[in-house]
Amino acid sequence: MTLQIKNIEQYHEAYHRSVENPEGFWAEIASTFVWDRKWDKVVHHDFITPDIRWFEGGKLNITVNCLDRHIETKGDQIAIIWEANEANEPSKKLTYKQLLAEVNKCANALKAQGVKKGDRICFYMPMIQEVAIAMLACARIGAIHSVVFAGFSANALADRIKDAECKMVICSDYNRRGPKSIAVKDVVDEAIALGCDSVEKVLVYKSTGDKVKWNAAIDLWWHETVDTMSDQCEPEIMDAEDMLFILYTSGSTGKPKGVVHTCGGYMVYTEYSFKNVFQYQDGDVYWCTADVGWITGHSYILYGPLLAGATTMMFEGVPGHPDAGRFWHVCEKHRVNQFYTAPTAIRALMAAGWHEPEKYDLSSLKVIGSVGEPINEEAWHWYDEKVGRGRAPIVDTWWQTETGGILITPLPGITDAKPCFASYPLPGVQPVLLDPNGIELVGNNVEGLLCIKYPWPSMLRTTYGDHERCRTTYFAAFKNYYFTGDGAKRDEEGRYRIIGRVDDVINVSGHRIGTAEVEDAINQHSGVVESAVVGYPHDIKGQGIYAYVKAHHEVVDPEHMRKEILAVVTKHIGPIAKPDKIQFVLQLPKTRSGKIMRRILRKIAEGETGQLGDISTLLNPECVEELKTGALV
Ligand code: WTA
Repeated sequence: MTLQIKNIEQYHEAYHRSVENPEGFWAEIASTFVWDRKWDKVVHHDFITPDIRWFEGGKLNITVNCLDRHIETKGDQIAIIWEANEANEPSKKLTYKQLLAEVNKCANALKAQGVKKGDRICFYMPMIQEVAIAMLACARIGAIHSVVFAGFSANALADRIKDAECKMVICSDYNRRGPKSIAVKDVVDEAIALGCDSVEKVLVYKSTGDKVKWNAAIDLWWHETVDTMSDQCEPEIMDAEDMLFILYTSGSTGKPKGVVHTCGGYMVYTEYSFKNVFQYQDGDVYWCTADVGWITGHSYILYGPLLAGATTMMFEGVPGHPDAGRFWHVCEKHRVNQFYTAPTAIRALMAAGWHEPEKYDLSSLKVIGSVGEPINEEAWHWYDEKVGRGRAPIVDTWWQTETGGILITPLPGITDAKPCFASYPLPGVQPVLLDPNGIELVGNNVEGLLCIKYPWPSMLRTTYGDHERCRTTYFAAFKNYYFTGDGAKRDEEGRYRIIGRVDDVINVSGHRIGTAEVEDAINQHSGVVESAVVGYPHDIKGQGIYAYVKAHHEVVDPEHMRKEILAVVTKHIGPIAKPDKIQFVLQLPKTRSGKIMRRILRKIAEGETGQLGDISTLLNPECVEELKTGALV
């Protein structure tokens, strides 16, 4: 069993040990897993190239650790509880034994279709059990999964399929999300028609059974391909540093990049963090409401909990369906012990019914978590009082797609929970705050750029197909540090409070969106000359998207043009990237070197028009008045 810290003394002792002797610390934790061969070296640390390796020489298969090793003691325990979109539909449960059998069948089906170790498989799936089965099936045979959130458009899906040259796409026919049913297979067809030549097969799970277009040359039904297979499949033995998965995420510039995680380190860190952050005990029911299309779904619905032998829940639907009590109803129904969600959901539910949680029996909750964006004080207190009932501590967990697992978090019942503070690093994690010149800020009561100065096992290794991009994005800003892109404060007692992104990434409802991506999409509209996108505070979403758009001609019908712009963004990225506000402008503020001065645009979008700072370096300072008074659509 992995290390599970139980009190503050143990936390301090483990933290101290992890800094003094990181190799010893991690070797001890890693030795609790099943390895086919033990590693030769715990960590190789080079933040310049970068070249990071953990447990090199070690051999393993992560699914053996998620499944096979639990069979003897927990074979009949529930591994996954699935809760349907419709509240009156029965839940489905899979025991560890059943899950292993399903994973093996799917793994055999993939092999029969010619999928081999190292092949990339794209997923475009709703939250159904088969997504978990198929991801684990990939890991079983050494294929690399690349899950794309099923809210992205065909264009965005095609970009990701092409970047990773995926051999297969796994999808469903439809995706039920609250009252809507989305034709996901159609989106996959559309994406493939955009020139995804690498795709040989599309494996389709019949979820709703509604009619879909069928291309017999490449389409395969899951029930015809998987269900007939043997439920025995030998795991592929992987090197610790072999790729486990790719997950695309947005950055400041260019198209989303494929963050690469590897088998050994990711396995060790996700179980370790899961057990400590949620203080999971055997028999508990754990529920993370994320979508498997994001890193939270990978690490804390699937891998972390299954590695720990937990009972993990998957929810197909959305928080408000059929009403704002759905989450609490599900918690009551399954006697959920640990509940993990995003501030945007908390704010939306709080707005929909302040007293709603009081109608439900939430006495089973022991820990409640928050992830993805800063949680504001009001939402924190509501969550604490109405959901945690002042009894279940909040864990405000900070981490990123790139970090693979939670790095900074309170430990429930062990470290105190201060509203809006992610608090302390987990043992093994060495955060620092830097000033803009890269000087470490020592002591407490400081604010700076959040960096990490020593590797941890689940950190990204590269960005798929473009290592230089990984170097420039994360390791070039400050020599010998991993730069997170976030700003943070450290209070008088050393707790961290995450302020938010300091780069051109915005966090909309907990979804990371690059402003450059949205601008590229808007600029596809034939009537647009250029655009600039910034974030602004939004009551429910945390941040909203504010677009300044310069058109070729005078905009005579702004409402019509707005609709067209939203359609273009939906087509190129997906509905999650639609601007909340659009302002048509005659000019964008530019520096003499022709760069857009975003600082001014951010201030205006935030409504702080009185504090624009120095505008004397602008090429066109006269545009500022127009920007301040311009109308919004
Ligand atoms: C933000 C999500 C404040 C942060 C797991 C980070 C947070 C980005 C928190 C990563 C938190 C995540 N408090 N901000 N507890 N957790 N963030 O890659 O800006 O989707 O850089 O990973 O979300 O988003 P990502």
